[in-house]
Amino acid sequence: EKGTYPFYMLKEIDEQPTVMRKLTQEYRDDQGKVNIDKDLVEEVSASDRIYIVACGTSYNAGWAAKSLLETVTQIPVEVQLSSEFGYNMPLLSERPFFIFLTQSGETADSRQVLVQTNRLGFPSLTITNVAGSTLSREAKYTLLLHAGPEIAVASTKAYTAQIAMLAILAQAVGKNKNSKASTSFDAFHELSIVATAMESMVDEKDYISSLVEHYLSTTRNAFYIGRGNDYYVASEAALKLKEISYVQAEGFAAGELKHGTIALIEEATPVLGIITGQNTGAHTRGNLKEVESRGANTIVIASEELARQEDQIILPTVHPLLTSLVAVIPTQLIAYYACLQRGYDVDKPRNLAKSVTVE
Ligand code: F6R
Repeated sequence: EKGTYPFYMLKEIDEQPTVMRKLTQEYRDDQGKVNIDKDLVEEVSASDRIYIVACGTSYNAGWAAKSLLETVTQIPVEVQLSSEFGYNMPLLSERPFFIFLTQSGETADSRQVLVQTNRLGFPSLTITNVAGSTLSREAKYTLLLHAGPEIAVASTKAYTAQIAMLAILAQAVGKNKNSKASTSFDAFHELSIVATAMESMVDEKDYISSLVEHYLSTTRNAFYIGRGNDYYVASEAALKLKEISYVQAEGFAAGELKHGTIALIEEATPVLGIITGQNTGAHTRGNLKEVESRGANTIVIASEELARQEDQIILPTVHPLLTSLVAVIPTQLIAYYACLQRGYDVDKPRNLAKSVTVE
């Protein structure tokens, strides 16, 4: 039930800190260790490459978790679109492990890949919000997101839950493999810091609504830019803005802008820069300066330690591998208010269905 909320999407955005804590409750044992099926942990540990297969927002969640997974498990990770991978399978490694990310567990494009990997005899895990869903039944293993039903078509809490779930899995696999990074990474501790940071971001609703009114109320297009994990958040931020406010938005690797796309920047084009990467922030700022000098209106979303006084949105500091979990929150709210201010139906955008059961 949406209770006092005008739309499910806003309720689901607000629920994200609780979802982070719920995942900890579900997957932490009495000694504070990760409680996940040992066979699953063994099988992932024994693989030489993890293939994450997903669509849409779940695909973006895969990218957001890639460097975290690689760092903590020391296993290379590929992130693939179901609808491409299914028809054009690349040369696979010798011992692949497949992870299907799917909120609904019913996405036909993803299922089609699972049917093929099952036929080839490869081990698989479905990470989903829906117990008993098709992809959950057909994969060898399942991890549930425990995020509660996601009703709004635009996915929010499933995105952050998927990244958090992968952080917990990474910790278990890293520990099992005795990876160096896993000894200094305590997923549950880090997720509790994330939950608190998320809380302070969802409290910024009125302020974000006013920013949207100022920068995005009449625009027909917008760009999100970032590097590394900030680029992956930019992709998700743009998808969210497109699907509910119908603003043509692109998430761009900040450094690529000058290789062509910068031609699209005009007077007052909104360009939103995401800056949480220690080694990339200065470069992204440089790219923002380039677009500003061509007339763009820039908005900076920066983590506390990299922020400048004039930046519009400041994110509390969290573990550097988990910044997407916090950076995405203001971008979900930006999409929400851009839609609301245009008078569209937030929960039921045109042309879209909550679960896509055709290929
Ligand atoms: C965007 C959105 C879609 C889904 C995609 C995959 O907000 O909701 O892009 O993420 O259709 O759906 P699942 O995760 O159910 O496989």
